[in-house]
Amino acid sequence: METLIGEGKTKQVFSYDSDHVLLRFKDTITAGDGAKVDIMENKGVINAQTSALIFRLLERNGIRTHYVGMYDERTMIAKKLKMIPVEVVLRNIATGSIVKRLPIKEGEIFDPPIIEYFLKDDSRHDPMLNYYHLEYFKLMNRKEAEVVESVMMRVNEVLRDIIRKMGFELYDFKLEFGRLGNEIIVGDEITLDSMRVRDPKTGRILDKDLYRKGYDLKTVKEAYEEFLSKLEKVV
Ligand code: C5P
Repeated sequence: METLIGEGKTKQVFSYDSDHVLLRFKDTITAGDGAKVDIMENKGVINAQTSALIFRLLERNGIRTHYVGMYDERTMIAKKLKMIPVEVVLRNIATGSIVKRLPIKEGEIFDPPIIEYFLKDDSRHDPMLNYYHLEYFKLMNRKEAEVVESVMMRVNEVLRDIIRKMGFELYDFKLEFGRLGNEIIVGDEITLDSMRVRDPKTGRILDKDLYRKGYDLKTVKEAYEEFLSKLEKVV
């Protein structure tokens, strides 16, 4: 393969050509800002495939992403972006960090959805940012944040619809954005590592919360596989 130019907890970045990079999805699964780490066999393939299907779906719906195509079953060819080290979270239903931080009960519905920004900084446990912080750190200005928020809302509509078609409910998701010239487009990944999906009838969890909550890797893998096979049938 080409030269390794970056590596995160779950992906490696390789140079490809002047405008593109290769994103190789690893089999690592992590939680608690990297405090808990395991190898889930074939996870890289499952997540690369899940991400590719969702990026293609977004592109068909007029949402720009870094997705170009697949290099192999766990490696994506992506546009080279200048990544913004911010996690943008959209919440439809309350769970996770928001119910710990604020007087909000598990399961409360947000209509309209709530969007939050977090700095990508594991050593500080990804602190929350507001518009002033975003501007101060030169991450994005207010106008750019508004563009990002409108993309988040559009992605939510598309993702929520497709997940409902699969019989599940989208609680929340996280996206990362990057600059391509003057534009800000969706980068990184969209997988069960970065969104919360539940069965609305039984409350069954299908996402990385299974791993965060200590379920065994077999259960986690089966959920990821089930989600991917249902996604393949509806996209
Ligand atoms: O933990 P929290 O409730 O803030 O997570 C909100 C959403 O963002 C969840 O879907 C979670 O999987 C995702 N997330 C992520 N990467 C992080 C933190 C959260 O993908 N570092």
